Amino acid sequence: MSITYKTLLEQADNHFQNRADAEFFMQALTNKKRHELFMDNLAIPKHIFNEFNKYLSRCRPDMPVQYLVNKAYFLSYELYIDERAMIPRPETEELVMKIADRLNKSSVSPNAILDIGMGSGAIAIALANMFPDSNVFATDISSKAIDVAKLNANKYGLVRKINLIQADLFPATDIKFGLIISNPPYIPHNEIKTLPLSVRNYEPSLALDGGKQGFEIIEKIIRQAPDYLMPKGLLALEIDPRQEKLIKNLVSHAQFEKDNQGFIRYAFIKYE
Ligand SMILES: C[S@@+](CC[C@H](N)C(=O)[O-])C[C@H]1O[C@@H](n2cnc3c(N)ncnc32)[C@H](O)[C@@H]1O
Repeated sequence: MSITYKTLLEQADNHFQNRADAEFFMQALTNKKRHELFMDNLAIPKHIFNEFNKYLSRCRPDMPVQYLVNKAYFLSYELYIDERAMIPRPETEELVMKIADRLNKSSVSPNAILDIGMGSGAIAIALANMFPDSNVFATDISSKAIDVAKLNANKYGLVRKINLIQADLFPATDIKFGLIISNPPYIPHNEIKTLPLSVRNYEPSLALDGGKQGFEIIEKIIRQAPDYLMPKGLLALEIDPRQEKLIKNLVSHAQFEKDNQGFIRYAFIKYE
């Protein structure tokens, strides 16, 4: 008797921590649409069945499914991902969409955009396509993350368009940016040990650990940003809700917005 997509999905469901991960895995493996995974009259080709077993034998305890299949999605982009870079999150997709809204409303494309802490390159790639006339820079302190971002920029034909630079926060350049955006590490150091094993055992600690109160990198970015921004330039940050007050203490005119879950997640600072 042949094995169907539905049977295999059920097997995946027993293996992964939740149904969403099992479906993500099956879609990545088969390139089928979600509804096709539920068909019990559609037989699995042998090579897919073999791949299924190969992947599951590689899977380690608590491993995020994205690292297992080396795929993550960000807005309309399918990105290559592995343990050298953080898996992009839906909150960061929201940040990019908020930026797109703000800039489209004011109908100005920033001359130059800087993404601090590029990770997989998700933000820089999305913005480079949204603002084709802007000069895009992206930095990361981790050369391993930059290697992942390079693969993704290459996949979308953006290797020449995005300047991928290894730097501690800001690049060495005289260019002044109209937009500086960052999803920096913002988890308080002593909370790292409380994170799910799938995060703390797999995602790079450089991407998570924001030092005391999770605020060390954010504070540095806020203090240094004016030196790199054009007049009326915008700094946009993804933050932990508890950092709102700390940011207000530094810049009283900072604006904050909530994410889809209702948590304060974004800080916008406009400089004169
Ligand atoms: C939370 S991850 C964000 C990755 C990606 N931008 C995203 O949103 O999916 C933060 C990134 O900042 C980088 N990072 C940490 N400290 C840094 C520093 N001092 N300068 C530049 N990048 C840094 C980390 O290596 C990591 O890739």
